[in-house]
Amino acid sequence: MTANTRTDDNGIDLDDVGTNPTANPSFTDLIASRLSRRHLFGLGVGTAGTALLQACGGGGGGGTAFPIIPPAPAPAPAPAPAPTPAPAPTPMKLGFDAVAKGLADVVTVPAGYTASVLYRLGDPIAAGVAAYKNDGTDDPATYDRRAGDHHDGMTFFGMNASNKWDAASAARGLLVMNHEAITPLFLHPAGQTISGTGNAAVRTSADEVLREFYLHGVSVIEINKSGSAWSYKQDSSFNRRVHTLTEMAFSGPAAKTDYLKTKYSTDGSKTRGTLNNCANGTTPWGTYLTCEENWAGYFRRIKATDDPSRTAKEIAAFTRYGVASTGRELWATVTPDTADNLYGRWNAQVVGATATDDFRNGANTYGWVVEIDPFNPSSTPKKRTALGRFGHEGACLGPVVVGKPLVWYMGDDSRNEYIYKFVSTKNWDAADVGGGTTAGDKYMDDGRLYVARFNADGTGAWLELKLGVNGITASNPAYAFADAADVVVNARLAADAAGATKMDRPEWTAVNPKTGEVYVTLTNTNAASRPITATDGANPRFYNDPKGPTATAQTGNPNGHIVRFADEGGDPAALAFKWDVYLFGARATASADINVSQLSADNDFSSPDGMWFSHATAGLLWLETDDGAYTDVTNCMLLAALPGKVGDGGARTITNVDGATTRTQDTFVGKAPGADGLRRFLVGPKDCEITGIAESGDGRALFVNIQHPGETTPAASIGDPTKFGSHWPEGGSARPRSATVVITRDDGGLIGL
Ligand code: FEO
Ligand code: CA
Ligand code: CA
Repeated sequence: MTANTRTDDNGIDLDDVGTNPTANPSFTDLIASRLSRRHLFGLGVGTAGTALLQACGGGGGGGTAFPIIPPAPAPAPAPAPAPTPAPAPTPMKLGFDAVAKGLADVVTVPAGYTASVLYRLGDPIAAGVAAYKNDGTDDPATYDRRAGDHHDGMTFFGMNASNKWDAASAARGLLVMNHEAITPLFLHPAGQTISGTGNAAVRTSADEVLREFYLHGVSVIEINKSGSAWSYKQDSSFNRRVHTLTEMAFSGPAAKTDYLKTKYSTDGSKTRGTLNNCANGTTPWGTYLTCEENWAGYFRRIKATDDPSRTAKEIAAFTRYGVASTGRELWATVTPDTADNLYGRWNAQVVGATATDDFRNGANTYGWVVEIDPFNPSSTPKKRTALGRFGHEGACLGPVVVGKPLVWYMGDDSRNEYIYKFVSTKNWDAADVGGGTTAGDKYMDDGRLYVARFNADGTGAWLELKLGVNGITASNPAYAFADAADVVVNARLAADAAGATKMDRPEWTAVNPKTGEVYVTLTNTNAASRPITATDGANPRFYNDPKGPTATAQTGNPNGHIVRFADEGGDPAALAFKWDVYLFGARATASADINVSQLSADNDFSSPDGMWFSHATAGLLWLETDDGAYTDVTNCMLLAALPGKVGDGGARTITNVDGATTRTQDTFVGKAPGADGLRRFLVGPKDCEITGIAESGDGRALFVNIQHPGETTPAASIGDPTKFGSHWPEGGSARPRSATVVITRDDGGLIGL
């Protein structure tokens, strides 16, 4: 049996259930700005001297990322890396035939392209480690040198012959990727061995739990191109697994404070591990950011027995973050515990005399953005607390300009959560390229954290999360903030106080290198989290998307949408922005108030999640789905898009329907993309999500992750391969495996054009 049921009836991760009880305003409650929309949409983006170059997600900060351009007049030199952009046709056009929707257990790409499997769950990444048997019997002690499970956010760091970062590298690099979670059923001989039920359920195999500890986290692998084929180098000295046992240091405002003290680190300076690493990000100095998303559910905390030992503030924080379960994999239940509390560290309950005698603060040590230097395999990853603690989806770097602050845009992926940005205090100095986590100390430990409020008139505001402002005070009625560390540890509560706008599950953020505009996927929500009376301009739809032959109702916003915004004056540190909704997910057959973006059979989709702008081909957007709503018709997919800019559509009133109730909602909608602006490029195997994306330095190889094929296979089916939800990638009767695929064009050309 499995310890947790991962999805609800809509196929939505239960980890993403909202825990936001606030009555933070929807647009209709907000005072309208006196600025006219006409005026606001006339604001320029990309003013003279602003370099609109960014580097989140894949691409080593992007194959051609970090051409670090100084503002005019140029005050500083622009050092390496200085990649050469691949020439893109002008005007840029999508140059492939759309892939049809489908339910086959294969990866399908357009004619003229080839998708090859590069790196699968269990693949060995050190000399002497045997090939993965994929039957649940591999030696648990070898899993710290094997690919993890559930491949997710990913970056290609090009590497030159001197083993230094070279973003332009077309044939060699370090591929760094997250391993978000596990499909326990396929990891052991017959799924997880569990005794008892409910609060009494316990794991009885330490070997199984050790496998799972190692299968979460991050991979760093060296990959090389030979001829037209890519492969990873099993014995590279750069290969590394970061997992739940890897020691990590804290830095920033919460480091060495009472909030992070545990039996493992009595001064609150360190912790072990990272997990539920979802989307990712990069830095302009060449390091990787991995983001901790649904960490709360891994900790064991039984409210009935633990609450009496807790303060009111602690209980408020646990409630807001959802730390109240048996622990999704029941890791805390293994007995006997080890001398270094390998299992007890997942018990977030009060069991000792003080906070340094137990792990009552264990949950505070997760929920961060973690920096890893892939070029230094022995380096200690750092949890950057200045960027706040929440359900981090990703951290996308904004435009990089010498002499200006650095900015990261971040989503908090649960229903009704918020969009954040962090602005560094220090201005970017390109001499810090290659500076590793020391450069991170400079730019990521000191800065301002903001949360977004979307106004009804198409404007928005960034609200600072700092003690003493925006209601973040000791007299805040919901939570009395004590100090700067309290604000970042409990960033969700601070954002509540500031009056942020609740969004329909903010997933990936992406920054258009041509315009500097920021895109955020809002993957979906349900009627319970956003009833028809609670829509607002930036989350404007309520509808039913009937599924399958019985037309099972899916109400709320089951297909999701993508909001985008332009910070005022093209300045990512600005405190105001203008927004519109770039794209709405929908079935092509849905009515005009649902299929607002007028999607067709060649580009209709549901539940956008992964999203990333190519750097080799500036302006090309890749869009990935993690869907459970449209899966009666199609498996999850990857689409290519050529978006315009904020304001290229117009004002729109959407008529929402819930049974007999009709309600209109005003919003701003981007120009419909048409077949030339959005096209389906890939459809994945059964029961997977498509996530994680990166490209080689020349844009001629695209790396894409296929996560959890066959995930919803019933536990009772483990002995009967004919009942597996997928056999991808090996086929036959094999157990399915998450894997990275590399996609190339048969004529060696740029991908997608
Ligand atoms: Fe891990 Fe929000 O998807
Ligand atoms: Ca995701
Ligand atoms: Ca998702």
